[in-house]
Formats: sequence, structure tokens, C-alpha cells
Amino acid sequence: MTIGIPKEIKNNENRVGMTPAGVFELTKNAHTVFVQSTAGNGSGFFDEDYQNAGATILDTIEEVYASSDMIVKVKEPIKQEYALVKPSQILFTYFHFASSEALTKAMIKSKAICIAYETVENKDGSLPLLTPMSEVAGRMAIQQGAKYLEKPIKGRGVLLGGVPGVPPGKVLILGAGVVGIQAAKMAAGLGAHVTIMDIDMNRLRHVNDIMPNHVVTEFSSEFNIRQRIKNHDLIVGGVLLKGAKAPKLITKEMLKDMRPGTVIVDVAVDQGGCIETTKPTTHEDPTFIIDDVVHYCVANMPGAVPYTSTLALTNVTLPYILKLANNGWQETCASNPSLYKGLNIVNGKIVYKEIAEAFGWNIEAIA
Ligand SMILES: NC(=O)c1ccc[n+]([C@@H]2O[C@H](COP(=O)([O-])OP(=O)(O)OC[C@H]3O[C@@H](n4cnc5c(N)ncnc54)[C@H](O)[C@@H]3O)[C@@H](O)[C@H]2O)c1
Repeated sequence: MTIGIPKEIKNNENRVGMTPAGVFELTKNAHTVFVQSTAGNGSGFFDEDYQNAGATILDTIEEVYASSDMIVKVKEPIKQEYALVKPSQILFTYFHFASSEALTKAMIKSKAICIAYETVENKDGSLPLLTPMSEVAGRMAIQQGAKYLEKPIKGRGVLLGGVPGVPPGKVLILGAGVVGIQAAKMAAGLGAHVTIMDIDMNRLRHVNDIMPNHVVTEFSSEFNIRQRIKNHDLIVGGVLLKGAKAPKLITKEMLKDMRPGTVIVDVAVDQGGCIETTKPTTHEDPTFIIDDVVHYCVANMPGAVPYTSTLALTNVTLPYILKLANNGWQETCASNPSLYKGLNIVNGKIVYKEIAEAFGWNIEAIA
């Protein structure tokens, strides 16, 4: 099969769909890989690295789309790419169709095979191609929070780890899922005092089992949150209700109970955020202040660390890419229930009912 890796052209997207290690695996399996020139530069992988791994470098995005049976990307195609997608071409990438009617219509029109990373789903309901990005964001939340606690950027002026004779800073984490646990691990590693809350007792039991004693679990309730925000320095929002908007666990009125310079990192911003005052920000201008509380609400946190994020993402996508390349999409999806769930649009038809529902359309099932 011919596999194409275009350069991402979405604003500030520095990740790339495949590393030289992925190219090596595919060419070893007798596939041909076309990489657009400079596609990997933002992640620290250069044309020469791809060539050494067996790829052919093409100059333009048009050539990559025109030459490939399967396109592997990171973000959904944007307007300039719509016309490049060919009938029967496999597109394997993040799509988030429900948030863009224009993209959905364009991919229906293209008659391509759109397999979305975000809907590939394991038997237990976990989302294997989303997990690594939550891991990155959870760990980054503490790195960013620690920075914004510094006084020159309007934080409380607290060093999270403290020093001998001075107690460490206090971190409150809302949600003990992937983001929450990774954040707790980083904060604990810095020596901070950590409180982590969830409504799922099994999650709290798990955290209690695996974390050191300075990570304290507490059931998530309005009463408990109101108590803790009064004396915690950094608050991380990592809650998720599948398929729904995040619950607002901290209201605007509650900000007044926090000490000036408290920092909130609302990782759940992409689902609306779990703080009432959250609004999405960008890496160019990541924070804003309301009632002396610093808010960091960047909706694509992994984008700031493209080297790590690209490796983390491609570690989990490569096994699926290999199967698709070796056996074609029909055979692979028929024998792999996780990947089958990733099928969103096939030959001009929506096959994932939530997308059709998002726009109030009728769904036609595939044979
Ligand atoms: N901003 C970014 O760049 C970025 C990157 C990755 C993920 N995210 C987002 O981070 C959020 C969390 O992702 P995740 O992978 O950790 O999800 P997850 O499903 O692993 O964990 C969410 C946790 O929230 C808990 N929860 C639900 N209601 C709660 C409540 N009222 N109080 C406390 N906990 C509650 C759930 O029980 C679950 O344990 C998602 O919205 C995800 O989209 C954002």
C-alpha cells in the first residue's frame, strides 16, 4: 500500500502523523511511504531521517494526497485539503466530526474512508488513541501550574516543592482519570501536597493504592471542594462525563474564597471546562485573571510539546496503521472491533450514528 504523511497546516500544529520509526516498520513490510518535505520539522524529525528510514520525500501536499492509498495525519483536514482527498482513500487521523458540519459534508462528498482516532474504542470503553494526549496534558498541567504560581506572572509566589523549613505548595486535582492521575504523579514528584477528588470510588481506591502518602484522596462534592479551594495553591480540572459537557464544579462566586494568585489549570476546557469562568485560550496567550485567580485554559496543551506528543501518539497509532496497510480497511475493521468503532464516514455515508445525530441527520448503515 502507498501511505502518505502530509505536513499539518492547521495553525500552530507542530505534530506529525508518523515518525521515522513508523516509516521503517512500514517499508520493512513492503509498503511505500511518501512524506511531505519538512512535515516532521516541528517535532524534531527531518527529511533526511525519514529518507534514511526508507521514505520518499515529496515537495507538495498535493503530490502526497495524489500518490497515497492511505493518508495518516494528526488533525482533521482543513478547508485547503478538502479537494485533495480522493474516493476510496483511507484517512486515519483525529476528525472530531460532530464539531464541524463543513468538514463532515466535505468528507461525505470525497467518498473517502474516514477512520477517526478519537472513536477507536476498546472493549472496556477506554479510548486508546486519546489516552496518550491526556497523559501529556495531565503531566503538563503541573509544569504549567508551577510556572504560573511564580510572582512575576501574577501567581502566589509559591514554590510547589517548598524547601527545608518551609511547607510545600498544595495541589487540588478534580478528577482521578488519566489526566488527574498523571497530574498527581507529577505534583507528588515535585514534593507538593496533593488532594485528588473523584466521584468514582474505584478510581479513588486505585489512586490510594498506587500513590505515596502525601497524595490524599477525597470524595468530590460541592462541600469538600468549597473547603479545599480556600487553601490550595494550584487547582487542576480533569473531569470528564463521557459524551457530555464537563460539570461546573467551581463557580465564579467561589473564586472569592481562593487566595489571590491561586492558579487554575482547567484541562477539561475542551469539553467546556469544569470551572464556570473557563474560556479556551491558546499557547500564544495562555492565561487570564479573574478575581485575582490565574486561569490557564489552553485547549490543545499537547501542541506545546510536539516531540513528546508525536512519539506518544504514534506509539499507539502505528499498530493500527500496520494492520490497515497489510490487510486493507475492510478486513482489518471486520476483524478488529476497536478499529471498527473508528469508522466514521465510508464511501460517502456516515456510519457513526452520533455524528449524524449531532446535525439532526438520518444515518444510513453500511453493509
Ligand atoms: N486541554 C487539553 O489539551 C486536553 C488534552 C487531553 C485531554 N483533555 C481533556 O481532559 C479531560 C479529562 O480527560 P481524561 O482522559 O482524564 O478523562 P477520564 O475519563 O480518564 O477521567 C475523568 C474523570 O473525571 C471523573 N469525574 C466525573 N465527574 C466528576 C466530578 N463531579 N468530580 C470529580 N471527578 C469527576 C470521572 O469519574 C473520571 O475518573 C477531558 O475533557 C479531556 O478531553 C484536554
